[in-house]
Amino acid sequence: MKIILVTGGAGYIGSHVVKELHKKGYKAVIFDNLSRGNKFALKWGDFVFGDLNNISSIRKAFSDYSFDAVMHFASYAYVGESMENPQRYYQNNVVTTLNLLSCMLEFNVKKIIFSSSCATYGIPQRIPITESHYQNPINPYGQTKLIIEKILLDFNNAYDLKYVSLRYFNAAGADPDCEIGECHIPETHLIPLVLDAALNEKKHIKVFGTDYPTKDGTCIRDYIHVTDLANAHLLSLEYLLDGNVSDIFNLGNNAGFSVREVIDTAMMVTKQKIDFISEKRRDGDPPILVGSADKIKDILRWEPKFNCLQDIIKTAWKWHLKTYK
Ligand code: UFG
Repeated sequence: MKIILVTGGAGYIGSHVVKELHKKGYKAVIFDNLSRGNKFALKWGDFVFGDLNNISSIRKAFSDYSFDAVMHFASYAYVGESMENPQRYYQNNVVTTLNLLSCMLEFNVKKIIFSSSCATYGIPQRIPITESHYQNPINPYGQTKLIIEKILLDFNNAYDLKYVSLRYFNAAGADPDCEIGECHIPETHLIPLVLDAALNEKKHIKVFGTDYPTKDGTCIRDYIHVTDLANAHLLSLEYLLDGNVSDIFNLGNNAGFSVREVIDTAMMVTKQKIDFISEKRRDGDPPILVGSADKIKDILRWEPKFNCLQDIIKTAWKWHLKTYK
């Protein structure tokens, strides 16, 4: 049985990938400090409580298990927080990744799947964004992901470390079996906050920016179901285990929805009224991010099962009702 180290495997995306690893017969070893991950998400595989800032705890995991590959999710991922506290982001995303990579070299584990982000593109010149699009992040979170992509390329060239970097657009939805789902503390993401406002009539949604150069003035994002994301990780893993070369893939649905459209779709799904108020723009937000995933469809034969926003929100709503009602 192949053994995969999953850093941040108690987090939203990591835990959905762990479930798919388990279903496909891999052993997942979750390495997580639970600072932002959730205990409830530890349902499959082994769990190692550890912090990537502490290199000896990573080394111990590598000596306890013989890993075939690494999937690296552990990182901070709030754009707004990264604008306010960049030091925390460079430390927790870049320094920790260097610690992890050092252990990989030390133990001769040379395959890694890295959670990158559409935030590495900054303000796009062309929509949909393809992988060859110029990268110029406008927030420290995106910078940290871009720096790590560059580190991986250098490690590939110098040490023959093979990687797949997956540039996610906006992950959304929940496990269709409703065993796990999105739960950030604090929650800052649009869809769970919108569903919270649907569940609680005293709550409303703040729309950050209504004067963007978009059809209704609100930001446009490309939402991708978390299980589709998870399946892309499995394909990337098989690709690396088959001995293929390093590569980078976007993961999006090539479909942009404005904040207003997300709210309208959520009202349809939940059959609840959702109040919102206009707020000023949030620092670090690009007006529009929509990605082409043609490359991963072509090379890895990835096919998303949830390419309609309504279906994505339906799974999130089911989870939300189960967890918060
Ligand atoms: N938004 C609101 N009100 C809210 C929350 C969000 O209007 O209460 C807006 C945001 O301004 C943005 C959109 O809804 O325009 C989506 O915001 P999210 O916070 O849900 O997601 P982000 O686009 O900021 O962030 C996501 C991921 C990051 C990733 C980023 C790329 O969480 O990891 O996409 O831009 F890097």
